[in-house]
This record gives sequence, structure tokens and C-alpha cells, in this order.
Amino acid sequence: MQRCLSLVLSASLVSNVVAAPSSSSAWNFAKRDLASFIAEERVVALQGALNNIGPNGSAVPGAGAGFVVASPSKANPNYFYTWSRDSALTLKMIIDDYIFGNTALQVYIKDYIHAQAVLQTVTNPSGPFLPNGAGLGEPKYQVDGTRFNGAWGRPQRDGPALRATALMTYSNYLLQSGQSTYVKTVIWPIISNDLSYVGQYWNQTGFDLWEEINGSSFFTLQNQYRALVEGTQLAEDLGVTCTGCDQAPEVLCFLQSFWNGEYLDANINVDDGRTGIDGNTILGPIQVFDIDAYCDSPTFQPCNSKSLANFKVLIDTMRETYAINQNISKGQGVAVGRYAEDVYMGGNPWYLITLAAAEFLYDAVAQWKAQRNLVVDSTSLPFFQDLYPNITAQQYNSSNANLPFAKITDAVTAYADSFVAVAEKYTPANGSLAEQLDRATGTPLSAIDLTWSYASFVTMAQRRAAQYPASWGSRNAAPVPATCAGTSTPGVYAPATAAGAPNVTTSCTVPVLFEVNATTYYGENVYLVGNTTDLGAWDLSNSQPMSAANYTSTRPLWYASVAMTAGEMVDFKFAREEDCAQASIYESVNRTLTVPACGAEGIVVDAAWTGAVGTSGGC
Ligand SMILES: *[C@@H]1O[C@H](CO)[C@@H](O)[C@H](O)[C@H]1NC(C)=O
Ligand SMILES: *[C@@H]1O[C@H](CO)[C@@H](O)[C@H](O)[C@H]1NC(C)=O
Ligand SMILES: *[C@@H]1O[C@H](CO)[C@@H](O)[C@H](O)[C@H]1NC(C)=O
Ligand SMILES: *[C@@H]1O[C@H](CO)[C@@H](O)[C@H](O)[C@H]1NC(C)=O
Ligand SMILES: *[C@@H]1O[C@H](CO)[C@@H](O)[C@H](O)[C@H]1NC(C)=O
Ligand SMILES: *[C@@H]1O[C@H](CO)[C@@H](O)[C@H](O)[C@H]1NC(C)=O
Ligand SMILES: *[C@@H]1O[C@H](CO)[C@@H](O)[C@H](O)[C@H]1NC(C)=O
Ligand SMILES: *[C@@H]1O[C@H](CO)[C@@H](O)[C@H](O)[C@H]1NC(C)=O
Ligand SMILES: *[C@@H]1O[C@H](CO)[C@@H](O)[C@H](O)[C@H]1NC(C)=O
Ligand SMILES: *[C@@H]1O[C@H](CO)[C@@H](O)[C@H](O)[C@H]1NC(C)=O
Ligand SMILES: *[C@@H]1O[C@H](CO)[C@@H](O)[C@H](O)[C@H]1NC(C)=O
Ligand SMILES: *[C@@H]1O[C@H](CO)[C@@H](O)[C@H](O)[C@H]1NC(C)=O
Repeated sequence: MQRCLSLVLSASLVSNVVAAPSSSSAWNFAKRDLASFIAEERVVALQGALNNIGPNGSAVPGAGAGFVVASPSKANPNYFYTWSRDSALTLKMIIDDYIFGNTALQVYIKDYIHAQAVLQTVTNPSGPFLPNGAGLGEPKYQVDGTRFNGAWGRPQRDGPALRATALMTYSNYLLQSGQSTYVKTVIWPIISNDLSYVGQYWNQTGFDLWEEINGSSFFTLQNQYRALVEGTQLAEDLGVTCTGCDQAPEVLCFLQSFWNGEYLDANINVDDGRTGIDGNTILGPIQVFDIDAYCDSPTFQPCNSKSLANFKVLIDTMRETYAINQNISKGQGVAVGRYAEDVYMGGNPWYLITLAAAEFLYDAVAQWKAQRNLVVDSTSLPFFQDLYPNITAQQYNSSNANLPFAKITDAVTAYADSFVAVAEKYTPANGSLAEQLDRATGTPLSAIDLTWSYASFVTMAQRRAAQYPASWGSRNAAPVPATCAGTSTPGVYAPATAAGAPNVTTSCTVPVLFEVNATTYYGENVYLVGNTTDLGAWDLSNSQPMSAANYTSTRPLWYASVAMTAGEMVDFKFAREEDCAQASIYESVNRTLTVPACGAEGIVVDAAWTGAVGTSGGC
């Protein structure tokens, strides 16, 4: 993908400005240049995302049909997996682009529907699919759709809501063209499982979108709410029951508690030692953006006063956090990262959050224009004052171009553009978007060609081009209950066989506690690997990590408790992972085990390491 973007071109445009200055030409040239950058990068970004989707994606050989790989990067970091969240956000972008007229994308949507129907049934470390849907909370799978066994922040409860939202967007579109039978028999069963999961588990903690904190995440709850509201309407349109959708008012009630009076606290019900000022809280609003919404909707739309106040708090924090934002004044776009305390890869701005900041502002402007007014109140006043100093708390109505309404919305649009300009500044000439950019130099770093970075560019460009997804019915939302209750509706789960899911009936597992006495040096680790997918199918990188929590010099114990398929026979062994890039060491024996039948008590496998041992490389 060698594309020449406008970066080279802009130098000659600058000299034109110098040669023929006029009062407004500098601004116009800057504007035109940004527009051409966006037009070209949008094409690169869409292709960049498609390159990461199996089975034909050029960057991800080995990925199954319809599986979205997070990044082709296989080391430092290894993102060569499929995440439910990234996949759903990417497909939402693709589905919207399809609806906006890019009909070539339909094959990706069909593949995704099939892939996710199968994926839902895969038993994984978060649990089985049947009987309670627990496995739907698994964040990450191998790129062929088989389970990932490594230690991870699980469950993550946003995935089912986001997948349901992507599929409902497509379903609503198909309904308008009279394809209700297909929607009802093929797609709805997938959506129904996901909404069941949301209705059952929304009031339990889970890991946030950054996979670090086991609490209640604003992004997760906001997306769960949208999914349940949208599901209520779709079920009604199809004449089916939505199990779990009745939880919507309680989710909305709980969502209000993330507002702390100054900003939205990204993660609650957890003591995370952070301020809670986090890009989480702008990624949620753009995902639930509804062009028909009222700004005072309790769903925290981009144009909502609390959302705007939160936006300012986040951006002010980010301006202070990163050296590359030094000297950028208030009211100007900055490079935006996850949160100030971030240390991952050194803690840096991310392309997708910087672009989300722009999208958030385009959304807000679109909502004010749709409503032909803009209400400034004491909560949102500081946000507006950075852009339009003489603004006051009042309602500004749209009428003619000279009035403040037009000037304010133009200022917010220019502010949005300035975030895109920051992303442009740090985008390499070939248009490739990594995950992060260095906090001090702006050099791209971490995973290359991050699918979510590309998806975020396209959705930003869609909104800037006034392409808005259809309303999801935020206006139909029931009022927020006066008092909140932590409730749950037991889900109803069934394989979406018409979409291609295997007809699994039960997934009976028996807990097996594997224990091995293995004297190890500090830095050495022990894994359990075997011939079934739950033991990694002999792939050490997907084996079961063992714990040394009870290791002592008298009992050098490594253990792992694994839910094994009842009645199955497995070949397995233990393996040592060495330090200093030395090769792993497998036991010299192959072991076998027959897992007891369904309903049996758990068993313990008590073993002693057999074979060569390792030595520290001393690095
Ligand atoms: C992948 O390639 C096959 C064979 O050319 C084609 O039939 C299929 O439509 C392609 N799928 C996608 C998503 O491009
Ligand atoms: C996260 O919290 C859930 C409870 O909602 C729990 O089931 C799960 O084990 C926790 N995960 C970890 C890794 O602590
Ligand atoms: C900010 O301005 C100072 C003083 O002009 C300069 O030394 C510094 O390099 C600037 N920082 C950035 C990131 O541009
Ligand atoms: C308010 O400020 C804006 C820009 O800062 C300016 O264009 C506008 O004329 C001012 N309006 C009034 C009424 O002072
Ligand atoms: C804006 O319109 C509303 C009614 O639509 C009206 O009550 C209000 O006075 C108007 N505000 C201004 C400043 O004209
Ligand atoms: C695009 O440019 C980046 C940064 O210069 C580089 O790392 C990457 O390999 C390039 N990608 C392609 C496909 O050439
Ligand atoms: C469950 O809901 C109640 C009522 O909104 C809330 O107080 C509580 O924090 C919630 N807990 C979790 C883990 O979602
Ligand atoms: C799936 O299996 C169940 C139980 O064996 C059976 O009743 C049902 O008809 C099967 N469904 C399909 C689509 O094969
Ligand atoms: C590890 O130690 C804890 C606390 O002493 C104990 O409860 C647990 O059963 C032990 N686990 C194993 C596998 O030995
Ligand atoms: C694993 O090995 C056992 C025992 O040899 C065998 O019965 C079973 O079919 C194997 N499973 C797989 C998935 O290869
Ligand atoms: C024995 O273990 C090795 C991995 O060390 C595996 O590749 C092989 O298939 C196993 N043999 C049997 C018979 O299970
Ligand atoms: C593991 O070590 C413990 C403590 O020394 C011992 O009781 C147990 O028998 C050992 N297990 C095996 C399989 O050797």
C-alpha cells in the first residue's frame, strides 16, 4: 500500500499562500489541505482495516473468514488475535459504510455473521456457552476462532453489546428492504444471545475496554444500554421476545452514577487509584451517537452538557500529560491518550482516541444543527468558553449565519478539525496507522496497522461528511427510575444454527486440578499443554498457564484448574518456559487422562516433573 498523501503537496500550497496572501486564504488552504488528507486517508484506512480481516486479508494470512485481527503485529506486542470488541466496532463501521453506499462490503458482513454465530458456541476460559452464556464474555480468540487459553483480563462485558449493535444496524437496514425472514431466522438468534448476556450480567463487574480494570466501565454500560433499547424495538418489529431487554431502565439508572459532578469517572465499583479521567468516556458517546437524540437525554450523547464538560476535563488533562502537546493552547486539538496514569508502552497518545475526539465534536455539531438550537448551561459553559470566550449560559437558536449559533458551531467544527490535523501531523506518508504515537516525539509506536485505528479514521470521516447512522431510538428511552436497583434477567441461550453455529446442546465440563512438582528458578514458568483446544492443541503459546502461588522449597507446586469437557480423553504434558530467549523444555513423557463423565466431582492430577530441567540464562 504505497500511497502518496497530501503531505508533500502541502509544501507547495504553503508557498502559494505566501505568494498570494489574502485575508482568508491561509485558513482556506489549511482547510482544503485537511479535506484532501481526509479524503485520501479514508481510502487507506478502510483498506487497512479490510487487510486485517480473514480469509483474504493481505496482512493476516491464517485468519478465518469473518474474523477481524486486531493487528498483523505478532511480537512486541502480539496482537495477532481476534477481539470481540475491536471486531464489532470495525464491523459497525463497515456496516455503516455499506449502508452509505459501499456495496462491495457486503461479503465482509456475511462472513462476520457466520463467524460470530460459530464463535458464540466456543467454550473458553470465561466459561461455556450453555447453559448460562458465560463464554460470551470472553474478550479474545485465536484468529481461526478457537479459544485462547492464556491469562487475560476476563470477562469483558462490552463485546456482546457491541456485536449486537453492529448486527442490529444491519438488521434494521434489511428490514427496510423487506428482508424480515432472513433477519428473524438468521441474524436475530445471534443478537438474542448477546442481549440475553447483557440483561443477565450488566450488574456484575468485568474488565474495561483497556483490559486492565475489573470494575464497572462507563463505556461498557453505555453500550449495553443502547443495545437493550435497540433490541427492544427490533424484537417488536420482528414479533419476537427479547430476553434481557427489560433491564434497560436499570442500566440507564446505573449509568447516571458515573458522573461525579465534574466529569465522568471511567471505572467505578473498583479501587483503581486513578482519577477516572479516561478516553473511555468519549469513545462511549460516539458509539451511542444518535442524530435524533435530545441533548438532555440521560444517555450522555456528545451534545450533552455533562459529556461536553467531561470532554474538556479529558482534553485539559491530555494537554498536560504529553510533551508533544506542549505549547498547544486551549481550544486547539491535542494528541489524546487513554488516561494520565497510563504506563503501557510508556503511556502515549493513541490515534484512535485522538480521532474519536474529532468525531465526538462533529457529532455534537450535527445534533445541535438537527435541533436548530444549542443550550449552554453552567455545566457546559467552560467547554464553550475555550472556543468562544464571550458565550453565556443560554439557548442559542439557529436562524441566520451571522448569529452566534452559526459562529459557535463553526468554532466547534474547527476545533474538531484541529484534532484531525494532529493525527495528520503524526501519520506517516504511506497513511499507515499504528496504535500509539510517542508522547515526546510523535513517532508511531506499538502495534502497526491497528484495525481499530483505521476504523476510527473512517467513522470520523463519515461524520465529518455528514454521514450519520440511523437513530437507535434514544428518544423512546423510558425515564430514569427514581431509585436504582441491581437486577438481572436470566438469559436464554441457543446456538444460532441458521447462521452456521454448530448445534451444541450442552457443554458439560468437569473441573480438573492439575498439580506438578517442578523445581524451577526465578523467571522460569510452567505450562500445561495437550492435544485438545482447551490445552492449546500442542501449541505452547496457547497452553494453560500454571500458578506458583503455593510454591515452597519443600513442595515446589505448580497448578492449574481447568474446566475440561466431560468424558473426553486427552494427551498432555507439562512444559517449562525459559528466560533469556532460551527454548522451552517439554517433559519427556506423554501423559493421558480420561475426564470423568458429566456430573462427576472434579478430580486432581498429581504429577512430578519428568524430563530435563532448565537453567537461568542469567540475562
Ligand atoms: C475471498 O476470496 C474468495 C476467493 O476469491 C472470494 O470468493 C471471497 O468472496 C473473498 N472474501 C472476501 C471477504 O473478500
Ligand atoms: C472479574 O470480576 C468478575 C466478577 O464480576 C469475576 O468473575 C472474575 O473472576 C474477575 N476476574 C479476575 C481476573 O479477577
Ligand atoms: C514549546 O515551546 C518552547 C519554547 O518556544 C520550545 O522550546 C519547545 O520545543 C516547544 N515544544 C513543542 C513540543 O513544540
Ligand atoms: C464574541 O466572540 C466572537 C469570537 O471570539 C466574536 O466573533 C463575536 O463578534 C463576539 N460577539 C459579541 C457579541 O461580542
Ligand atoms: C430560542 O427559541 C426558543 C423556542 O424555540 C425561545 O423560547 C427562545 O426565546 C429563543 N431564544 C433566543 C435567544 O431567541
Ligand atoms: C508505512 O510507513 C511506516 C512508517 O514509516 C512503516 O513502518 C510501514 O512499514 C509502512 N508500511 C508499508 C505497508 O509500507
Ligand atoms: C449494580 O446496580 C446497583 C444499582 O444501580 C449499583 O448500585 C451497583 O453498583 C451495581 N453493581 C455493579 C457491579 O454493576
Ligand atoms: C439441535 O439439536 C436439538 C437436540 O438434539 C434438536 O432438537 C434440534 O432440532 C437441533 N436443531 C437443528 C437445527 O438441527
Ligand atoms: C493454595 O493455597 C491456598 C491457601 O493456602 C489454598 O486455599 C488452595 O487450596 C491451594 N491451592 C492448591 C492448588 O494447592
Ligand atoms: C487426544 O488424545 C486422545 C488420546 O490419545 C484421543 O482419544 C483424542 O481423540 C485426542 N483428541 C484430539 C482432539 O486429537
Ligand atoms: C507427545 O507430545 C508431543 C509434544 O511434546 C506431541 O507433539 C505428540 O503428538 C505427543 N504424542 C502423542 C502420542 O500424544
Ligand atoms: C509432590 O510433592 C509432595 C510434597 O513433597 C508429595 O507429597 C507428593 O507425593 C508429590 N507428588 C508426586 C506425584 O510426586
